[in-house]
Amino acid sequence: MAGRNFLFVPGPTNVPDRILRAMDVPMEDHRSPSFPALARECLNGLKPIFKTTTGVPFIFPSSGTGCWEAAVTNCLSPGDRVLASNFGQFSYLWIDMCQRLGLDVQVIDVEWGQGAPADRYQAALEADKSHAIKAVLVCQNETATGVTSDVAAIRKALDAAKHPALLFVDSVSALCSIDFRMDEWGVDVCVSGSQKGLMLPAGLGITCVSQKALSASKSAKGRRANRCA
Ligand SMILES: Cc1ncc(COP(=O)(O)O)c(C=O)c1O
Repeated sequence: MAGRNFLFVPGPTNVPDRILRAMDVPMEDHRSPSFPALARECLNGLKPIFKTTTGVPFIFPSSGTGCWEAAVTNCLSPGDRVLASNFGQFSYLWIDMCQRLGLDVQVIDVEWGQGAPADRYQAALEADKSHAIKAVLVCQNETATGVTSDVAAIRKALDAAKHPALLFVDSVSALCSIDFRMDEWGVDVCVSGSQKGLMLPAGLGITCVSQKALSASKSAKGRRANRCA
């Protein structure tokens, strides 16, 4: 077939031609003194995309899966309880990773094809009087089923239960495609990647972290080789 092949999957998406042309430059030295200015421009450029003024964006070599792991290992400790719902392959895989990293995952099982049930999150949070739940996980767009969940409703559930848990959102297939509002929705870690709505080559983990999550990372005991400064 002549011309470009279009494969209609959620990602990797096609990188626009003008971006491909802009990439045709000599490689940057990531240890050079001029690199920080370039990186800072990219990081600051992500803030309006996450709709945050106080959150801190991170870019690192990874896929979305690596961002899941970074969120969990940097902000939590083995044995911590997290609340998550399973309603498709990706929400399931994040739960599976949390379990393998030694977290105590309280799973809300939902029939695949439905979204994250804010009422059931709220009930679980209200029942958690001792605040054992340290983080609440939600997948904004469950790519496997194409179902979008209401992240603002999960924030409302946390607030209604007066629960201090961190809110982690998987926005891998939502960011830049579906409305996302880090500050307004009180999201603590938003996990994403380069190869979907951002329409960039695969391979960059793109994540945004709230000040509250940065503080949590100081005492978290999840195993990781690199620590944020
Ligand atoms: C919602 C969601 N989360 C996580 C991932 C995993 O991302 P990656 O394939 O970049 O590791 C995907 C991949 O399609 C996804 O759609």
